[in-house]
Amino acid sequence: MRIILFAGKGGVGKTSIAAATGLRAAQLGYRTLVMSLDTAHSLSDSFDLEKGLLDINKGRPVQIAENLWIQEIDIQEEIQNNWKEVHQYIATLISASGIEEVLAEELAVIPGMEEVSSLLYINRYFTQKRFDAILLDCAPTGESIRFISIPTTLEWYMKKLFKVERKLTRYVRPVVERIYDLPLPEDEYFENLQILFQKLEGVERLLSNPQITSVRLVTNPEKMVIKETQRAFMYFSLYGLCIDAVIINRVFPDEISDIYFHRWRGTQQRYIQESEKYFAPVPLFKLQLFKDEIAGHKELEELAQQLYGERDPTKVFFAESPYKFTKRDGNYYLNIKLPFTTKEDIDLSKSGEELIIRIGGIKRHILLPKNIAPLTPLGAKIKGENLTISFGGKKDG
Ligand SMILES: Nc1ncnc2c1ncn2[C@@H]1O[C@H](COP(=O)(O)OP(=O)(O)O)[C@@H](O)[C@H]1O
Ligand SMILES: [Mg+2]
Repeated sequence: MRIILFAGKGGVGKTSIAAATGLRAAQLGYRTLVMSLDTAHSLSDSFDLEKGLLDINKGRPVQIAENLWIQEIDIQEEIQNNWKEVHQYIATLISASGIEEVLAEELAVIPGMEEVSSLLYINRYFTQKRFDAILLDCAPTGESIRFISIPTTLEWYMKKLFKVERKLTRYVRPVVERIYDLPLPEDEYFENLQILFQKLEGVERLLSNPQITSVRLVTNPEKMVIKETQRAFMYFSLYGLCIDAVIINRVFPDEISDIYFHRWRGTQQRYIQESEKYFAPVPLFKLQLFKDEIAGHKELEELAQQLYGERDPTKVFFAESPYKFTKRDGNYYLNIKLPFTTKEDIDLSKSGEELIIRIGGIKRHILLPKNIAPLTPLGAKIKGENLTISFGGKKDG
């Protein structure tokens, strides 16, 4: 199965490209699902479907052509069906006073329900082998970063908080509540969370496997958009996802020779050339500005043709995991491909068996492999776009 995320700034063309890719994949015979993670769902507009078709299906996949389904998560429906207790508990936790500072900080990254719901679906569809390709029409960049951070965050969160306190609740609930001044959930909430957690098991492996999951970053040939694309590139890499293509959309075609657009064309050309250098070896795809907005099968087919030519859009265009562990001379090295960052941006620390990488407002906890966890971090180096952290010597602590 293939999972392809279409991500980028708002309005760059994610939905149109995800829809076009879906249509082409379905026509090639792949059972294809295009799933919208953007709460401002616009897939049905892109496919030019009748209004309300998706509403009556309450967030479930709807078949719209041979081999082609679309799904727009309906969060109210999800909460109704699966989430009541968990939702209530998290809400209580967040509003509770007296939470330790560290904990409160972690709570703030408690994943959005839409995102967790879609991860649950992805995991379930993978197990059921229901689709050959799942294409994710992502929300604008910030939210999709949160989305991909969920599996690791949740795992960490469960390990840290729930495993320990689960045992405690049965016996010492009153004491713990007094000490931590934290409402502990009823056992059934724990059960619910645990079930939820089990359902998410394995999804991180799916997302970090470059043969299964790829991110296609959609961008426009403009300074601000490209800047954001670079940041997104770095954050997706930080979370271990592989970017297999960068798509530059809205490129002025040669036919536009009007003098009014003269400067624009020069600017676009410059950004395209720069992008080819920036993002290499990840392939750069180009897509023209169409004569009109893109809606309906005919336009989507045209888009897919321009973008992929005769290529199979479910193909992996680039596959190199951003994370690599290696061993040399008795020391271990973690190499992370983190383009578009400098040493000053990165804050590293190690706590127990975790490595914590903070870049700007984003933080990732990496559970280190067993053989590396007890070692002392010896240093970190940035060379080109590679961050290398070395571990070795005596045991930590
Ligand atoms: N290459 C293009 N040529 C013409 N219109 C485009 C092109 N790409 C996107 N659009 C139009 O721009 C608008 C935003 O595109 P959309 O795919 O919804 O972006 P996003 O999902 O990233 O917000 C839509 O009206 C779409 O039809
Ligand atoms: Mg969209």
